[in-house]
Amino acid sequence: MYSALRLSFLLPFLFLITKNSLAQNAVTIPIETLHNALVLQTDKENHLGITYFGKKLGSAVEYQLVTSQSRQHDGNAGTYNSAYTPAGSWNVSEPALQVTHSDGNKSMDLVYVSHKTSKENDNVTLTSIVLKDPVYAVEVTLHYKTYIHEDVTEQWSVIKSAEKGEITLNKYASANLYFIAKDYFLTHYNGTWAKEMNPEQEQLTAGMRVLDSKLGTRANLFQPPSFQLSFDKPATETEGKVLLGTLGWSGNFRMDFEVDSYHNLRLIAGINNYASEYPLASNKEFTTPSFIYTFSENGKGEASRNLHNWARKYRILDGEGSRMTLLNNWEATYFGFNEEKLSGLFKDGKKLGVDLFLLDDGWFANKYPRNNDQAGLGDWQENVKKLPHGIGYLVKEAKNAGVKFGIWVEPEMVNPKSELYEKHPDWVIKEPQRPEHHMRNQLPLDLSNPEVQKFVFGVLDKLFIENPDLAYIKWDCNAITFNAHSAYLEKSKQKQSQLYVDYVKGLYKVLEKLRAKYPKVPMMLCSGGGGRVDYEALKYFTEFWPSDNTDPLERIFMQWEYSYFYPAIAQSAHVTDWGKQPLKYRTDVAMMGRLGYDIVVSHLNEKDLQFSQQAVATYNSIKDVVWHGDLYRLVDPKENSYASLLFSSKNKDRAILFSYLTGNRNGDGSDTPFRLQGLDPAKKYKVKELNLYPETKTALKEDQVYSGEFLMTVGFNPAVSARRTSVIVEISAQ
Ligand code: DGJ
Repeated sequence: MYSALRLSFLLPFLFLITKNSLAQNAVTIPIETLHNALVLQTDKENHLGITYFGKKLGSAVEYQLVTSQSRQHDGNAGTYNSAYTPAGSWNVSEPALQVTHSDGNKSMDLVYVSHKTSKENDNVTLTSIVLKDPVYAVEVTLHYKTYIHEDVTEQWSVIKSAEKGEITLNKYASANLYFIAKDYFLTHYNGTWAKEMNPEQEQLTAGMRVLDSKLGTRANLFQPPSFQLSFDKPATETEGKVLLGTLGWSGNFRMDFEVDSYHNLRLIAGINNYASEYPLASNKEFTTPSFIYTFSENGKGEASRNLHNWARKYRILDGEGSRMTLLNNWEATYFGFNEEKLSGLFKDGKKLGVDLFLLDDGWFANKYPRNNDQAGLGDWQENVKKLPHGIGYLVKEAKNAGVKFGIWVEPEMVNPKSELYEKHPDWVIKEPQRPEHHMRNQLPLDLSNPEVQKFVFGVLDKLFIENPDLAYIKWDCNAITFNAHSAYLEKSKQKQSQLYVDYVKGLYKVLEKLRAKYPKVPMMLCSGGGGRVDYEALKYFTEFWPSDNTDPLERIFMQWEYSYFYPAIAQSAHVTDWGKQPLKYRTDVAMMGRLGYDIVVSHLNEKDLQFSQQAVATYNSIKDVVWHGDLYRLVDPKENSYASLLFSSKNKDRAILFSYLTGNRNGDGSDTPFRLQGLDPAKKYKVKELNLYPETKTALKEDQVYSGEFLMTVGFNPAVSARRTSVIVEISAQ
């Protein structure tokens, strides 16, 4: 067996056989995208296994031959490749589904019943496979939605029970996949406030590796539900087999990576079952969130472009639309503002040339005014001292100044020092018999409670009803969940173990209702920085705040990592006073996302103001390529002393190249050319440096014409150096 295993990597990608040999009338279900296939097949006991994952074959009939090529027989190990691994019967590895039946029995088995495939349109196909327990009345339907041209699959499960009594779902994963490769390299991310998205790559060895969150609200603070998985060897941007995976769930998640005794890899992804046994009543069903993934044989660049195309077209609210540039007052004023000061800032926004002014934290609460982060959260009435004429007046004033008006809210949270807390102590998530544990002096409200859902919806609804011209919302969430206990669940005789899940369901109910009434208003998803972003939340939000850390040097690294999973149109990036870099550098970095400002415009000297005004205008001329084009990460700052990324338009007529010096050693920079990507080899291009600081000149030869072939073979040098620390180059077809 060992030698057969070692040899397996020489064969075309991923072969497998199960302990039980193939049934005579095996059912084979290929689930294909443009380039890839996931093949499921029944064995002689009618269990459904994954027999192939990888590059699609020309002839689907040949998928049936896959299992004949493996010699991975192991009498003791059980069946590892289950399409949805049940616990408590023949399976001895990490399960996807674990159930306690109504009679207390803890065993599950699942056999194939039927499947059907329906086409939503030319690009989207849904394959649904029904499995059931031969003994107990529990059924699971596995759903695989494929987006053919994007090579993306969205996978979820629906668990139904027809048992007479209530059953308990102890584990209820969204997806179960199975891979065979020589080796597996997992890149996952760790972080905390202002240090989001630090990648770590590790080779998976025998046994389990778990990526998870138990933080509840702000679930991603230490780790997002996204990862890269390379097969055989670590993939590069342009080479290697790689899967990018992410869970669409704004709460506790869990991803199990288990390398089994064949050295094959099982992936199980879904809601974290930690403290979350979920009851399922008779004839009810539980729908898991979606696990979304894309696979490429050509490296991480292609994989992430596929994911971006999918996300813009099918997932992010208004993903193919437009965004507004803005001026935010958070770092300019913190909590210290009044109407007069804000009116001045509206004018500053107009002077800068941005579309919108965003009023941040501090505008509300009277009994316990929101003058710092210790009080007022939950009391969403305008503070009469700061804003005697209310929000309506500000919206009008902004309009008179020529900018739109947006506002910050944090409706899921409460300060103990607030009227809301005094009135509704039972709306707060806390352990009745233990001391409260706060983060940023606040606690989450209990969104499993329909009354709380109504309240949270009401906060936004009131703002919109009173201010129909409100043009933008920043939705914040600054505390994780401690002492996870719900007075509502207790009172309504439900289980405490529902809280983590019902919180997220409650949040989605609010967002659903909000979007039904206000479908278009752009909303930023923020969580004290990047504590919460995923592809379920982005159905309701147009963008997210990657981090409170806006030091451009840090942002280059963070935005690079986020860009594996999320397109630039969804990433808010502001010019602030963080970091030691010059204004041009700070601006150039923010221009790689949805550009905004959080500075005191009146503190800019004449040249800085002139530069910034011109930068907003330049951004307006390139934003279409940044938002809707294809991203190529060309020079990785983790391995070089500078970074370079290129966005190119779909027709390859125009590309924008962003380059930044990240090292500070003598001679650091681009002393040799690097190869561009995403151009047409047959087209002729000219280069032009954009966003130069006033009175500086380009170091590039702008009258030279290059073929796309030259730029992509010999390469290009944007001349990044200690004297030119950030460079934006427009590459236009002639
Ligand atoms: C945390 C956010 O990340 C900041 O941008 C700002 O909105 C503050 N909260 C306000 O309290």
